[in-house]
Amino acid sequence: MKITKDILSNKEFLKLKDFKHHGITRLDHVSRVSKLSYKYCKKHKLDYKAAARAGLLHDFFLVNNQKLNIFTRIKVLFTHPKLALANSKKYFDLSKKEEQIILSHMFPVGLRLPLSREAWIVCIIDDIASIYERIKRR
Ligand SMILES: [Fe+2]
Ligand SMILES: [Fe+2]
Repeated sequence: MKITKDILSNKEFLKLKDFKHHGITRLDHVSRVSKLSYKYCKKHKLDYKAAARAGLLHDFFLVNNQKLNIFTRIKVLFTHPKLALANSKKYFDLSKKEEQIILSHMFPVGLRLPLSREAWIVCIIDDIASIYERIKRR
């Protein structure tokens, strides 16, 4: 909790609870990705701090996908890592690794290759969490 205290106490970040994402709130989704990435990285002696923080921030964008037409949705699918990074940099101090994790979390969508093991882990855990959340919703 100490690692992510600044993020979890930020009013702008907490607005994610008002946005739907895979049938749950975006806050619940990023919390799941953060916790799972933290646990995996801690167990494998990797940078669990970067994984937990970037896991929380990877979808920090305040756009309501539900209200968008299909074309804009597709555009957001490609551009939201950049939006999330811009928002994150506005409110928090990030390491270069954390920035890169956020930017590459949609790989291969967006074509930004994850450059660290932690970036690969967040990217893969995000995919697994997204599939799980979509299936669970049905
Ligand atoms: Fe995302
Ligand atoms: Fe995500």
